[in-house]
Amino acid sequence: MANHRITVLPGDGTGREVTLEALNLLKVVEQHSPLSFSITEIPCGGQYYLETGEEWPSGSFEHCRDESDAILLGAIGWPGAVKPNGDLAGGQVILGLRSGLDLFANVRPIKLYNGIRHKIHGEFKQVWTPGLVDMSIIRENTEGLYQPLLSRSAHLARGEEYSGISDISIPGMDGEFAWDPRPISRIGSERVIRFAFELASQRSGNPSDGTTRVTCVDKSNVTRGCQLFRKIYREIATDFPNIETDESYIDAFTMWLVRQPEFYDVVVVPNMFGDIVTDLASALQGGMGMAASANIGDHHMLFEPVHGSTPKRAGKGEVNPIAMLSSVQLMFEWLGRRKDDPDATIVSQIVESAIEELITKGSPLTYDLGGSASTSEVSLAICASVTEKLKSHYENA
Ligand code: IPM
Ligand code: MN
Repeated sequence: MANHRITVLPGDGTGREVTLEALNLLKVVEQHSPLSFSITEIPCGGQYYLETGEEWPSGSFEHCRDESDAILLGAIGWPGAVKPNGDLAGGQVILGLRSGLDLFANVRPIKLYNGIRHKIHGEFKQVWTPGLVDMSIIRENTEGLYQPLLSRSAHLARGEEYSGISDISIPGMDGEFAWDPRPISRIGSERVIRFAFELASQRSGNPSDGTTRVTCVDKSNVTRGCQLFRKIYREIATDFPNIETDESYIDAFTMWLVRQPEFYDVVVVPNMFGDIVTDLASALQGGMGMAASANIGDHHMLFEPVHGSTPKRAGKGEVNPIAMLSSVQLMFEWLGRRKDDPDATIVSQIVESAIEELITKGSPLTYDLGGSASTSEVSLAICASVTEKLKSHYENA
Protein backbone atom coordinates (compact mmCIF):
# COMPACT_ATOMS: atom_id res chain seq x y z
CA MET A 1 0.00 0.00 0.00
CA ALA A 2 1.76 3.08 -1.23
CA ASN A 3 1.94 6.27 0.70
CA HIS A 4 2.53 9.31 -1.47
CA ARG A 5 4.11 12.48 -0.16
CA ILE A 6 2.14 15.39 -1.58
CA THR A 7 3.25 18.98 -1.11
CA VAL A 8 0.38 21.41 -1.52
CA LEU A 9 0.99 25.04 -2.49
CA PRO A 10 -2.34 26.90 -2.51
CA GLY A 11 -0.83 30.23 -3.63
CA ASP A 12 -3.08 33.14 -4.48
CA GLY A 13 -6.74 34.07 -4.86
CA THR A 14 -8.95 31.41 -6.38
CA GLY A 15 -5.94 29.09 -6.38
CA ARG A 16 -6.57 28.75 -2.64
CA GLU A 17 -10.27 28.02 -3.17
CA VAL A 18 -9.74 25.25 -5.70
CA THR A 19 -6.91 23.81 -3.59
CA LEU A 20 -9.40 23.26 -0.75
CA GLU A 21 -11.45 21.15 -3.17
CA ALA A 22 -8.36 19.21 -4.22
CA LEU A 23 -7.74 18.41 -0.55
CA ASN A 24 -11.36 17.22 -0.22
CA LEU A 25 -10.86 14.91 -3.18
CA LEU A 26 -7.64 13.53 -1.64
CA LYS A 27 -9.58 12.81 1.57
CA VAL A 28 -12.24 10.89 -0.32
CA VAL A 29 -9.61 8.88 -2.17
CA GLU A 30 -7.76 8.12 1.03
CA GLN A 31 -10.98 6.94 2.68
CA HIS A 32 -12.15 4.65 -0.08
CA SER A 33 -9.04 3.34 -1.82
CA PRO A 34 -5.75 1.73 -0.75
CA LEU A 35 -3.91 5.01 -1.43
CA SER A 36 -2.71 7.15 1.43
CA PHE A 37 -1.01 10.53 1.49
CA SER A 38 1.35 12.52 3.66
CA ILE A 39 0.30 16.06 2.90
CA THR A 40 2.39 19.14 3.64
CA GLU A 41 0.77 22.47 2.96
CA ILE A 42 3.02 25.48 2.40
CA PRO A 43 1.70 29.05 2.17
CA CYS A 44 3.18 30.98 -0.73
CA GLY A 45 2.65 33.41 -3.58
CA GLY A 46 2.05 37.09 -4.22
CA GLN A 47 -0.41 37.64 -1.38
CA TYR A 48 1.93 35.88 1.03
CA TYR A 49 4.72 38.14 -0.25
CA LEU A 50 2.63 41.26 0.40
CA GLU A 51 1.96 40.04 3.94
CA THR A 52 5.41 38.76 4.88
CA GLY A 53 7.98 40.08 2.39
CA GLU A 54 8.82 36.47 1.47
CA GLU A 55 7.50 34.40 -1.43
CA TRP A 56 7.34 31.28 0.76
CA PRO A 57 8.95 30.18 4.05
CA SER A 58 12.62 29.32 3.81
CA GLY A 59 13.25 25.63 3.26
CA SER A 60 10.18 25.30 1.03
CA PHE A 61 12.12 24.68 -2.16
CA GLU A 62 14.16 21.97 -0.44
CA HIS A 63 10.96 20.37 0.87
CA CYS A 64 9.53 20.27 -2.65
CA ARG A 65 12.80 18.85 -3.98
CA ASP A 66 13.68 16.32 -1.28
CA GLU A 67 10.45 15.32 0.41
CA SER A 68 7.73 15.26 -2.23
CA ASP A 69 6.51 12.58 -4.60
CA ALA A 70 4.25 15.14 -6.21
CA ILE A 71 3.52 18.85 -5.82
CA LEU A 72 0.09 20.40 -6.20
CA LEU A 73 -0.06 24.13 -6.93
CA GLY A 74 -3.14 26.39 -6.91
CA ALA A 75 -2.18 29.63 -8.63
CA ILE A 76 0.51 32.29 -8.37
CA GLY A 77 0.08 36.00 -9.04
CA TRP A 78 -1.72 38.88 -7.34
CA PRO A 79 -2.32 42.52 -8.31
CA GLY A 80 0.48 44.65 -6.92
CA ALA A 81 2.59 41.67 -5.92
CA VAL A 82 5.73 42.69 -7.75
CA LYS A 83 9.26 42.66 -6.38
CA PRO A 84 11.37 45.84 -6.36
CA ASN A 85 13.27 44.63 -9.46
CA GLY A 86 10.01 44.13 -11.38
CA ASP A 87 9.91 40.34 -11.03
CA LEU A 88 6.66 38.51 -10.34
CA ALA A 89 6.28 37.97 -6.57
CA GLY A 90 5.74 34.23 -6.25
CA GLY A 91 8.03 33.54 -9.19
CA GLN A 92 10.27 31.50 -6.88
CA VAL A 93 7.37 29.14 -6.41
CA ILE A 94 6.02 28.53 -9.90
CA LEU A 95 9.07 29.39 -11.99
CA GLY A 96 11.68 28.46 -9.38
CA LEU A 97 10.20 24.96 -9.19
CA ARG A 98 9.80 24.54 -12.96
CA SER A 99 13.42 25.49 -13.47
CA GLY A 100 14.99 24.32 -10.19
CA LEU A 101 13.43 20.85 -10.40
CA ASP A 102 13.99 20.61 -14.17
CA LEU A 103 10.28 20.13 -14.89
CA PHE A 104 10.99 20.41 -18.58
CA ALA A 105 7.68 19.18 -20.00
CA ASN A 106 4.54 21.17 -19.30
CA VAL A 107 1.81 18.74 -20.33
CA ARG A 108 -1.50 20.45 -21.12
CA PRO A 109 -4.21 18.05 -22.27
CA ILE A 110 -7.04 19.56 -24.32
CA LYS A 111 -10.01 17.23 -24.18
CA LEU A 112 -13.61 18.19 -24.87
CA TYR A 113 -16.15 16.30 -22.76
CA ASN A 114 -19.61 15.54 -24.01
CA GLY A 115 -22.07 18.18 -22.77
CA ILE A 116 -19.74 21.17 -22.74
CA ARG A 117 -21.20 24.28 -24.31
CA HIS A 118 -18.72 26.93 -25.40
CA LYS A 119 -19.14 30.54 -24.42
CA ILE A 120 -18.85 32.40 -27.72
CA HIS A 121 -20.31 35.88 -28.37
CA GLY A 122 -21.50 35.86 -24.77
CA GLU A 123 -23.72 32.82 -25.31
CA PHE A 124 -23.35 29.15 -24.51
CA LYS A 125 -23.55 26.81 -27.46
CA GLN A 126 -21.83 23.73 -28.70
CA VAL A 127 -19.18 24.64 -31.25
CA TRP A 128 -16.67 21.83 -31.42
CA THR A 129 -17.73 18.19 -31.41
CA PRO A 130 -17.02 16.09 -28.32
CA GLY A 131 -14.81 13.18 -29.21
CA LEU A 132 -13.10 15.27 -31.90
CA VAL A 133 -10.97 17.33 -29.50
CA ASP A 134 -8.44 15.24 -27.63
CA MET A 135 -4.83 16.34 -27.85
CA SER A 136 -1.92 16.95 -25.54
CA ILE A 137 0.10 20.13 -25.93
CA ILE A 138 3.62 19.82 -24.54
CA ARG A 139 5.04 23.22 -23.68
CA GLU A 140 8.81 23.43 -23.19
CA ASN A 141 9.09 24.60 -19.61
CA THR A 142 12.66 25.57 -18.72
CA GLU A 143 14.03 27.93 -21.38
CA GLY A 144 13.10 30.25 -24.26
CA LEU A 145 11.81 33.72 -23.41
CA TYR A 146 11.20 32.62 -19.84
CA GLN A 147 14.78 31.48 -19.29
CA PRO A 148 16.14 34.59 -17.52
CA LEU A 149 13.28 34.76 -15.01
CA LEU A 150 13.19 30.97 -14.64
CA SER A 151 16.87 30.85 -13.87
CA ARG A 152 16.76 33.87 -11.55
CA SER A 153 13.81 32.34 -9.68
CA ALA A 154 15.52 28.96 -9.29
CA HIS A 155 18.70 30.57 -7.98
CA LEU A 156 16.71 32.59 -5.45
CA ALA A 157 14.69 29.54 -4.44
CA ARG A 158 17.94 27.71 -3.66
CA GLY A 159 19.28 30.77 -1.83
CA GLU A 160 22.02 31.31 -4.40
CA GLU A 161 23.38 34.42 -6.05
CA TYR A 162 22.36 34.94 -9.62
CA SER A 163 24.55 36.62 -12.17
CA GLY A 164 22.55 36.90 -15.35
CA ILE A 165 23.80 38.23 -18.62
CA SER A 166 24.62 41.88 -18.44
CA ASP A 167 23.08 44.64 -20.48
CA ILE A 168 24.09 45.02 -24.07
CA SER A 169 23.86 47.63 -26.70
CA ILE A 170 22.05 46.83 -29.89
CA PRO A 171 22.96 48.72 -33.05
CA GLY A 172 20.03 50.86 -34.16
CA MET A 173 18.34 50.81 -30.75
CA ASP A 174 18.83 54.26 -29.31
CA GLY A 175 17.49 55.61 -26.06
CA GLU A 176 15.74 53.56 -23.42
CA PHE A 177 14.98 49.99 -24.42
CA ALA A 178 14.30 46.67 -22.75
CA TRP A 179 15.15 43.30 -24.16
CA ASP A 180 14.56 39.66 -23.43
CA PRO A 181 16.97 37.02 -24.63
CA ARG A 182 15.38 33.78 -25.80
CA PRO A 183 17.93 31.00 -25.44
CA ILE A 184 16.92 27.59 -26.76
CA SER A 185 19.41 24.76 -26.24
CA ARG A 186 19.98 21.35 -27.80
CA ILE A 187 19.64 19.62 -24.43
CA GLY A 188 16.47 21.51 -23.53
CA SER A 189 14.90 20.81 -26.91
CA GLU A 190 15.94 17.17 -27.12
CA ARG A 191 14.45 16.20 -23.82
CA VAL A 192 11.07 17.82 -24.35
CA ILE A 193 10.74 16.65 -27.95
CA ARG A 194 11.65 13.09 -27.01
CA PHE A 195 9.10 13.30 -24.19
CA ALA A 196 6.43 14.33 -26.73
CA PHE A 197 7.22 11.36 -28.99
CA GLU A 198 7.21 8.96 -26.05
CA LEU A 199 3.87 10.31 -24.86
CA ALA A 200 2.44 9.97 -28.36
CA SER A 201 3.47 6.33 -28.48
CA GLN A 202 1.37 5.72 -25.35
CA ARG A 203 -1.75 7.45 -26.68
CA SER A 204 -4.22 6.11 -29.18
CA GLY A 205 -3.70 8.70 -31.88
CA ASN A 206 -5.68 11.71 -33.00
CA PRO A 207 -9.49 11.78 -32.82
CA SER A 208 -10.21 12.00 -36.53
CA ASP A 209 -8.60 8.77 -37.74
CA GLY A 210 -6.39 7.45 -34.94
CA THR A 211 -3.15 8.66 -36.51
CA THR A 212 -0.33 8.91 -33.99
CA ARG A 213 1.28 12.22 -34.74
CA VAL A 214 3.64 14.73 -33.12
CA THR A 215 3.27 18.28 -34.42
CA CYS A 216 6.22 20.63 -33.99
CA VAL A 217 5.05 24.23 -33.63
CA ASP A 218 7.61 27.02 -33.87
CA LYS A 219 8.63 30.11 -35.79
CA SER A 220 11.64 28.67 -37.55
CA ASN A 221 11.11 30.91 -40.58
CA VAL A 222 12.21 33.81 -38.38
CA THR A 223 14.10 32.88 -35.21
CA ARG A 224 17.38 31.07 -34.67
CA GLY A 225 16.18 29.31 -31.53
CA CYS A 226 13.23 27.85 -33.40
CA GLN A 227 15.50 26.71 -36.20
CA LEU A 228 17.46 24.66 -33.69
CA PHE A 229 14.22 23.39 -32.13
CA ARG A 230 12.89 22.18 -35.48
CA LYS A 231 16.23 20.65 -36.51
CA ILE A 232 16.24 18.62 -33.30
CA TYR A 233 12.58 17.67 -33.82
CA ARG A 234 13.53 16.16 -37.20
CA GLU A 235 16.45 14.27 -35.64
CA ILE A 236 14.37 12.80 -32.82
CA ALA A 237 11.56 11.89 -35.22
CA THR A 238 13.87 9.40 -36.95
CA ASP A 239 13.89 7.36 -33.72
CA PHE A 240 10.10 7.01 -33.97
CA PRO A 241 9.42 5.81 -37.52
CA ASN A 242 5.83 4.81 -36.68
CA ILE A 243 4.86 8.29 -35.55
CA GLU A 244 3.73 10.74 -38.19
CA THR A 245 5.53 14.08 -38.26
CA ASP A 246 3.89 17.43 -38.83
CA GLU A 247 5.39 20.94 -38.74
CA SER A 248 3.61 24.25 -38.31
CA TYR A 249 4.53 27.86 -37.73
CA ILE A 250 2.89 29.20 -34.59
CA ASP A 251 0.84 31.84 -36.42
CA ALA A 252 -0.73 29.37 -38.83
CA PHE A 253 -1.08 26.79 -36.08
CA THR A 254 -3.43 29.01 -34.07
CA MET A 255 -5.80 28.95 -37.05
CA TRP A 256 -5.52 25.20 -37.69
CA LEU A 257 -6.00 24.48 -34.00
CA VAL A 258 -9.43 26.12 -34.09
CA ARG A 259 -10.44 24.86 -37.54
CA GLN A 260 -9.34 21.25 -37.31
CA PRO A 261 -8.58 20.26 -33.71
CA GLU A 262 -9.38 16.63 -34.57
CA PHE A 263 -6.15 16.48 -36.61
CA TYR A 264 -3.93 16.94 -33.53
CA ASP A 265 -2.61 14.24 -31.22
CA VAL A 266 0.54 15.52 -29.48
CA VAL A 267 1.92 19.01 -30.10
CA VAL A 268 5.34 20.18 -28.91
CA VAL A 269 6.08 23.88 -28.70
CA PRO A 270 8.68 26.27 -27.21
CA ASN A 271 7.90 27.93 -23.91
CA MET A 272 6.23 31.30 -24.60
CA PHE A 273 4.32 30.11 -27.67
CA GLY A 274 3.08 27.23 -25.52
CA ASP A 275 1.96 29.63 -22.80
CA ILE A 276 -0.14 31.58 -25.29
CA VAL A 277 -1.49 28.77 -27.41
CA THR A 278 -2.65 26.65 -24.47
CA ASP A 279 -4.90 29.49 -23.26
CA LEU A 280 -6.39 29.64 -26.75
CA ALA A 281 -6.71 25.86 -26.87
CA SER A 282 -8.59 25.86 -23.56
CA ALA A 283 -11.53 27.49 -25.40
CA LEU A 284 -11.90 24.19 -27.30
CA GLN A 285 -12.54 22.34 -24.03
CA GLY A 286 -14.82 24.90 -22.40
CA GLY A 287 -12.37 27.50 -21.13
CA MET A 288 -9.70 27.95 -18.49
CA GLY A 289 -11.95 26.43 -15.84
CA MET A 290 -11.36 23.10 -17.57
CA ALA A 291 -7.62 23.38 -18.27
CA ALA A 292 -5.37 21.09 -16.21
CA SER A 293 -1.63 20.63 -16.41
CA ALA A 294 1.29 18.48 -15.34
CA ASN A 295 4.86 19.79 -15.08
CA ILE A 296 7.05 16.74 -15.51
CA GLY A 297 10.79 16.22 -15.11
CA ASP A 298 12.91 13.11 -14.80
CA HIS A 299 12.80 13.20 -10.99
CA HIS A 300 9.99 15.51 -9.94
CA MET A 301 6.45 16.47 -10.89
CA LEU A 302 4.10 19.34 -10.20
CA PHE A 303 0.41 19.63 -11.07
CA GLU A 304 -1.60 22.82 -11.42
CA PRO A 305 -4.67 24.24 -13.11
CA VAL A 306 -3.64 26.48 -16.01
CA HIS A 307 -5.86 29.35 -14.86
CA GLY A 308 -4.40 31.97 -12.59
CA SER A 309 -5.59 33.41 -9.29
CA THR A 310 -8.55 35.26 -10.95
CA PRO A 311 -8.53 38.21 -8.48
CA LYS A 312 -11.93 39.54 -9.51
CA ARG A 313 -13.57 36.20 -8.71
CA ALA A 314 -11.59 35.51 -5.55
CA GLY A 315 -13.41 35.12 -2.26
CA LYS A 316 -16.76 34.43 -3.93
CA GLY A 317 -16.63 30.64 -4.09
CA GLU A 318 -17.83 30.65 -7.68
CA VAL A 319 -14.94 29.49 -9.86
CA ASN A 320 -14.86 26.13 -11.58
CA PRO A 321 -12.88 23.56 -9.55
CA ILE A 322 -12.65 21.11 -12.46
CA ALA A 323 -9.30 22.39 -13.80
CA MET A 324 -7.85 21.68 -10.35
CA LEU A 325 -9.63 18.34 -9.87
CA SER A 326 -8.45 17.28 -13.34
CA SER A 327 -4.92 18.29 -12.30
CA VAL A 328 -5.29 15.97 -9.30
CA GLN A 329 -6.45 13.31 -11.76
CA LEU A 330 -3.26 13.88 -13.78
CA MET A 331 -1.29 13.56 -10.55
CA PHE A 332 -2.79 10.11 -9.95
CA GLU A 333 -2.07 9.16 -13.55
CA TRP A 334 1.60 10.10 -13.20
CA LEU A 335 1.96 8.59 -9.73
CA GLY A 336 0.65 5.38 -11.28
CA ARG A 337 3.21 5.57 -14.04
CA ARG A 338 6.22 6.79 -12.11
CA LYS A 339 5.74 5.03 -8.79
CA ASP A 340 4.38 1.80 -10.24
CA ASP A 341 1.18 2.13 -8.30
CA PRO A 342 -1.73 0.45 -10.11
CA ASP A 343 -4.22 1.86 -7.57
CA ALA A 344 -3.19 5.39 -8.50
CA THR A 345 -3.95 4.55 -12.12
CA ILE A 346 -7.37 3.16 -11.17
CA VAL A 347 -8.14 6.23 -9.08
CA SER A 348 -7.12 8.47 -11.96
CA GLN A 349 -9.57 6.72 -14.27
CA ILE A 350 -12.33 6.92 -11.68
CA VAL A 351 -11.81 10.65 -11.12
CA GLU A 352 -11.87 11.29 -14.85
CA SER A 353 -15.07 9.36 -15.36
CA ALA A 354 -16.73 11.18 -12.44
CA ILE A 355 -15.86 14.52 -14.04
CA GLU A 356 -16.95 13.37 -17.48
CA GLU A 357 -20.29 12.07 -16.19
CA LEU A 358 -21.05 15.24 -14.28
CA ILE A 359 -20.51 17.31 -17.41
CA THR A 360 -22.64 15.01 -19.52
CA LYS A 361 -25.37 15.21 -16.90
CA GLY A 362 -25.09 19.02 -17.11
CA SER A 363 -25.47 19.91 -13.43
CA PRO A 364 -24.20 21.18 -11.07
CA LEU A 365 -21.82 23.35 -13.10
CA THR A 366 -20.28 26.79 -12.49
CA TYR A 367 -21.00 30.04 -14.36
CA ASP A 368 -18.24 29.55 -16.93
CA LEU A 369 -20.02 26.45 -18.24
CA GLY A 370 -23.46 28.06 -18.20
CA GLY A 371 -24.45 26.85 -14.72
CA SER A 372 -25.01 28.67 -11.47
CA ALA A 373 -23.50 26.27 -8.93
CA SER A 374 -20.75 27.20 -6.50
CA THR A 375 -17.20 25.87 -6.46
CA SER A 376 -17.98 23.58 -3.57
CA GLU A 377 -21.28 22.28 -5.03
CA VAL A 378 -19.46 21.08 -8.14
CA SER A 379 -16.64 19.62 -6.10
CA LEU A 380 -19.05 17.88 -3.69
CA ALA A 381 -20.88 16.29 -6.62
CA ILE A 382 -17.61 15.02 -8.08
CA CYS A 383 -16.39 13.76 -4.69
CA ALA A 384 -19.71 11.95 -4.11
CA SER A 385 -19.49 10.27 -7.48
CA VAL A 386 -15.82 9.33 -6.89
CA THR A 387 -16.83 7.84 -3.53
CA GLU A 388 -19.51 5.65 -5.16
CA LYS A 389 -17.18 4.50 -7.89
CA LEU A 390 -14.32 3.73 -5.48
CA LYS A 391 -16.66 1.79 -3.23
CA SER A 392 -18.03 -0.30 -6.03
CA HIS A 393 -14.57 -0.91 -7.47
CA TYR A 394 -12.84 -1.89 -4.24
CA GLU A 395 -15.77 -3.70 -2.65
CA ASN A 396 -16.28 -5.83 -5.73
CA ALA A 397 -12.57 -6.38 -6.27
C1 IPM B 1 1.01 29.62 -16.86
C2 IPM B 1 1.05 30.99 -16.25
C3 IPM B 1 2.47 31.32 -15.79
C4 IPM B 1 3.35 31.29 -17.04
C5 IPM B 1 2.62 32.64 -15.02
C6 IPM B 1 1.75 32.68 -13.80
C7 IPM B 1 4.05 32.93 -14.66
O1 IPM B 1 0.57 31.93 -17.16
O2 IPM B 1 1.30 28.64 -16.15
O3 IPM B 1 0.68 29.48 -18.03
O4 IPM B 1 3.48 32.33 -17.72
O5 IPM B 1 3.91 30.24 -17.33
MN1 MN C 1 -0.20 31.07 -19.01
